[in-house]
Amino acid sequence: MSAPLIEFAQVTKSFAGPLTRSRHQVFANVSFTVHEGEIVSLFGPSGCGKSTLLRMFYQLTSWDSGRITYQGTDITSLPKSARREMHRAVQVVFQDPRNAFNPRWLIRRSMAEPLKLFKIVTTNHQTLIGEKLALLGLEDGLLDRRPHQLSGGQLQRLALARCLLVSPRCLLLDEASSMLDLSVQARMMELVKSLRTDEGISVLLISHDRDLVQAMSDRIYSFHDGTLSTDIAHTSDSSK
Ligand SMILES: Nc1ncnc2c1ncn2[C@@H]1O[C@H](COP(=O)(O)OP(=O)(O)OP(=O)(O)O)[C@@H](O)[C@H]1O
Ligand SMILES: [Mg+2]
Repeated sequence: MSAPLIEFAQVTKSFAGPLTRSRHQVFANVSFTVHEGEIVSLFGPSGCGKSTLLRMFYQLTSWDSGRITYQGTDITSLPKSARREMHRAVQVVFQDPRNAFNPRWLIRRSMAEPLKLFKIVTTNHQTLIGEKLALLGLEDGLLDRRPHQLSGGQLQRLALARCLLVSPRCLLLDEASSMLDLSVQARMMELVKSLRTDEGISVLLISHDRDLVQAMSDRIYSFHDGTLSTDIAHTSDSSK
């Protein structure tokens, strides 16, 4: 069997506490894998460390011990070009959509940024952007607004549409539909499922919505008292 696309092995994380030398441990020995074409969920109550795991994958925060790999290679030892390709192939929707867009820029400019960054060749960038917006039920007119002129749910959908522009192999979705009403959430999740079926995209879905993860996932890992397991039954659900 080939190496998982993403693997966290025995990862432990603590933050510095307010007192000198004190540490606050968020989780210990967390292990999970995401293989090609899988939808895997991380489920757990608020504050258990779900978003912290994503920030680690992008090396935005450190970890105490353990190993994080991409296609079998430790992410801290990837050569620059391979890290860049990983950043294209693994696209993330971070939890707060307001931080995902430059507040001074028109949405049109923010949407085009990854196409420039990853030198994506298309006959027409605007047409491609319009296609991805339509997949999420968004009008082109939103492109001429600034982030403060959009709802949280519109920004969440724009964030996912922007990920799709660079043909990712994997999506990391951190509460990516939390601001959507149920029908729009269902449309987004249908799209995610069809991307997996039609294009083999892998998905790591992060949520504290038990119903959502149960409906979507091939495998569910749940947090309980600072550890991660595949047993969802004993995990408290903060959304209920
Ligand atoms: N920079 C930081 N310094 C200190 N503690 C932090 C820092 N970032 C996060 N934490 C703490 O780490 C824990 C995990 O935070 P995280 O944001 O990963 O939770 P989460 O599972 O994503 O929660 P939610 O479901 O509310 O989004 C929380 O207790 C949080 O207060
Ligand atoms: Mg979070």
